[in-house]
Amino acid sequence: MAITLAFDVYGTIIDTHGVTVALERHVGERSGEFSRLWREKQLEYSFRRGLMQNYRDFSICTVHALDFACRYYHVSLSEQEKEELMNAYRVLPPFQDVRVGLEEAKDAGFRLFAFSNGKADAVETLLVNSNIRSFFIDVVSVDEIQTFKPNPAVYRHFLKRSGSMGNRAWLISSNPFDVIGAVSAGMRAVWVQRNSDAIFDPWEIEPTIAVKSLAGMAKRIKNKATQPD
Ligand code: 2OP
Repeated sequence: MAITLAFDVYGTIIDTHGVTVALERHVGERSGEFSRLWREKQLEYSFRRGLMQNYRDFSICTVHALDFACRYYHVSLSEQEKEELMNAYRVLPPFQDVRVGLEEAKDAGFRLFAFSNGKADAVETLLVNSNIRSFFIDVVSVDEIQTFKPNPAVYRHFLKRSGSMGNRAWLISSNPFDVIGAVSAGMRAVWVQRNSDAIFDPWEIEPTIAVKSLAGMAKRIKNKATQPD
């Protein structure tokens, strides 16, 4: 059975901090920290909505997180300015190593899927805009079961939708909570640590492998997959 790869989208394929340029107009030199708080709150809101079983789609978590960051930084945005920032979020750029990593994974014979907290149409737009949609067999969104990562149900849903088995399915993610969620649910997982300052949560659960870039990752997966557990 071919190896299946589930690529996380926001933060792994797509650079959520690509929005800093659009933010500069509103918050100047604080755009980097504003963007980090926006992203942290977006994820926190998804975790909380998952636990509360009070699902609204990921774009709602994003817009509520933007409102929080505006309050925190005492920034007042008009509805139109907010809409412009949300539009910038819909066309965020990919990381530089993505295309080569996808090419290598495809050449290795792996089955590629995008797997995200984002709704399928939002993810499709990002992939098409980055000119990488054709690498993926399909987009699997947590929206199909109305909860968020790292609920184990979403990883089971991915396996079902992609027709794969946990020991032949790998999550590829820069988000440690996602890696831990996938391994805990019986998948294998690659942690993509592009920034050497990024810290993996010191739990008892480790990534199957860690890489610094998507370039060269396919070979590492192939080597690991042929080793006994
Ligand atoms: C994603 O699911 C976790 O934001 C990340 O795309």
